[in-house]
Amino acid sequence: MEKKEQLYEGKAKKVFATDDGALCIVSYKDDATAFNGEKKGTIVGKGVVNNRMTNMLMQMLEKEGVPTHFVKELSDRDTVVKRVQIVPLEVIVRNVSAGSFAKRYGVPEGIVFDEPTIEFSYKNDDLGDPLLNTYHALALKLATKAEIELIEQYSFRVNAFLKAYFLKLGVKLIDFKLEFGKLPDGTIVLADEISPDTCRFWDVNTNEKLDKDRFRRDMGGVEDAYREIFKRVTEGK
Ligand code: TMP
Ligand code: ASP
Repeated sequence: MEKKEQLYEGKAKKVFATDDGALCIVSYKDDATAFNGEKKGTIVGKGVVNNRMTNMLMQMLEKEGVPTHFVKELSDRDTVVKRVQIVPLEVIVRNVSAGSFAKRYGVPEGIVFDEPTIEFSYKNDDLGDPLLNTYHALALKLATKAEIELIEQYSFRVNAFLKAYFLKLGVKLIDFKLEFGKLPDGTIVLADEISPDTCRFWDVNTNEKLDKDRFRRDMGGVEDAYREIFKRVTEGK
């Protein structure tokens, strides 16, 4: 399959058209941003890790009954996916307090929840992805009620699977962000990526961070963290 014109360039990926109107090719970059693009940098090898890890996880999730946009891995950085219209909602599931949750509610990081939480942000860079609830999402016509319910169901299913999967690799899944897309026939599928850019991973014994927080927080060892989580996923599959 051949890359045709570039349709879109995001902060971490480029999207290309193909000769099949129903498919596109995503190409993962090493570019890293944080805080809505205010902080910029490069994480060497990140594109390869995020591409391959996303594809492995999406194939596992398909088997768990979560439909995804994944079609075929072409190379280290390039993957064929179904062309979708992205639902402009960022879905965040949390098992343990961290990041903006800890900050917003004035609690320390690391508090384990009895039940996972879910929240939505409006995917809109100009507005800084503001938090919203389902009533707001409906008022803004970002999705229908049925679509939001399905997205919630899929997101918790993703969490249940990934949490258990990563625990076997010695990793606590603290939280993560998902995005969904809509196929031309209206089917909702998991899209975007599942990677150390979009998840928080802590080592089960040391709580060492194995994700993009090392970049966001200038902790050093960013590339090593991506390599380590990728090693566990590829060796432990
Ligand atoms: P937060 O605690 O900063 O809200 O982040 C929650 C999770 O979502 C964390 O795993 C990182 C991920 N995330 C993204 O993937 N993209 C984003 O733009 C933000 C803010 C968070
Ligand atoms: N999506 C965020 C950014 O805008 C990055 C993050 O914190 O994950 O730059």
